Amino acid sequence: MAKDKSSDFFKTTLAPESLAFRLLGTAHAVARVEEGQSLPSALASVFSHPKMDAATRGAIQDIAYLTERKLGLCEFLIEQLTRQPPSPPLLKTLLASSLALLVGENDEADLKYEPYTTVDQAVEAAASEGTLVRAKGLVNAVLRRFLREKEILLEKSNLSLTAKWNYPSWWIKETRRIYPKNWESILHVGNTAPPLTLRVNKRKTTVEGYLADLEAAGHPATAIGPYAIRLDNPLPVYRIPGFSEGLVSVQDAAAQLAAPLLELQDGMRVLDACAAPGGKSGHMLEMADIDLHALDSEPERLKKIDENLTRLQLHATIMAGDASKKNWWDGNAFDCILADVPCTASGIIRRHPDIRWLRRPEDAKELAVISARILDNLWELLKPGGKLLLATCSVWPLESEWQADAFAKRNNAARLDAPGQLFPTSDKLKDHDGLFYALFKKQ
Ligand SMILES: C[S@@+](CC[C@H](N)C(=O)[O-])C[C@H]1O[C@@H](n2cnc3c(N)ncnc32)[C@H](O)[C@@H]1O
Repeated sequence: MAKDKSSDFFKTTLAPESLAFRLLGTAHAVARVEEGQSLPSALASVFSHPKMDAATRGAIQDIAYLTERKLGLCEFLIEQLTRQPPSPPLLKTLLASSLALLVGENDEADLKYEPYTTVDQAVEAAASEGTLVRAKGLVNAVLRRFLREKEILLEKSNLSLTAKWNYPSWWIKETRRIYPKNWESILHVGNTAPPLTLRVNKRKTTVEGYLADLEAAGHPATAIGPYAIRLDNPLPVYRIPGFSEGLVSVQDAAAQLAAPLLELQDGMRVLDACAAPGGKSGHMLEMADIDLHALDSEPERLKKIDENLTRLQLHATIMAGDASKKNWWDGNAFDCILADVPCTASGIIRRHPDIRWLRRPEDAKELAVISARILDNLWELLKPGGKLLLATCSVWPLESEWQADAFAKRNNAARLDAPGQLFPTSDKLKDHDGLFYALFKKQ
């Protein structure tokens, strides 16, 4: 949006601390997601507004993530409350963002703003934007009617699968078809706010030692894995004790299972084939003194690996290259390879609520074909007796179990013990994303 100077948002006279400014910023971000952009990138455009400050950024981010988590319901409500589809698209996303705030996180009395403040500020937001000014009466009428008829409308919304679950209907049907027993819990976890989980750097501290540091700093937390600590209240990274010194990294508890599965030994030559932003690279280097080669096909994302490893004071050879090809390889085989292949990310929906609206039903199949090529190529780079770990953050078997099974058959690979499909869970002591692991040994 920074380049689109015609956008009224960049000329708005609204004060950044007003809810009107924040609703308008959110509406712009959500409109960009509707056009196919990812939410983080849509937010980055909105955040380039010259009046943006940390508090406003945080508030817009919260409302935008809430809106994506509630989009199915909000679209249902808009349909019920308007005679024709709102136009321009920004009007729909302003209504959706305002309705998300009026509904709240748990559809209960946990609203962050007084309902009538939200309505007034949504009207202000409409009045401030040239393309919406004529619709300010409609914004007012729709939101006030929602407040009057809230109970009955929310009850009615339970009859629509998309409104009830806040996923596209194909996604709900697919989850239900594949997992007839636990589809509801999988969908439910995707709608919860994700925890902030840390990975303790065992080169610098211990879980017990770091828990004590957190307690002393007034941040209650719980150990939820061999290296994993979940903070009771999420914090910005710059406020996490010892973060800049590399004592801990931010990483989901299931993602922390990858490095230990490879049983790395000092001196091993290891490839992290789809490495950016380097979360698992960092963990592997914390586990043993290995010669790590970190590859990723997105040169822009390589910087993130470098930043992460620099903070941890660890080193890898970082390379740009396509893991399904060999043109970047020096011909020396690897003892271990981690293939954290590109996937639909259907297991990390709670962290990326926009993904469900951006994906198409055919994506899993297309990504599985790309990943199969990557896996077959990487297998040739492995020493005899070496191990390859397939990781995905998907719950679709096409990308996970079926992929692993087909790969083992094609390459005559032995399968070793690994967790397989982990379902997303937000239990008190078991709180992690939905990841998949399969481990293979070259005969
Ligand atoms: C799931 S992410 C990896 C996350 C990373 N392992 C971590 O733990 O931080 C998948 C990565 O694969 C990269 N990628 C996609 N296709 C690739 C290819 N053909 N070769 C190498 N990397 C690829 C993407 O750019 C993305 O960074």
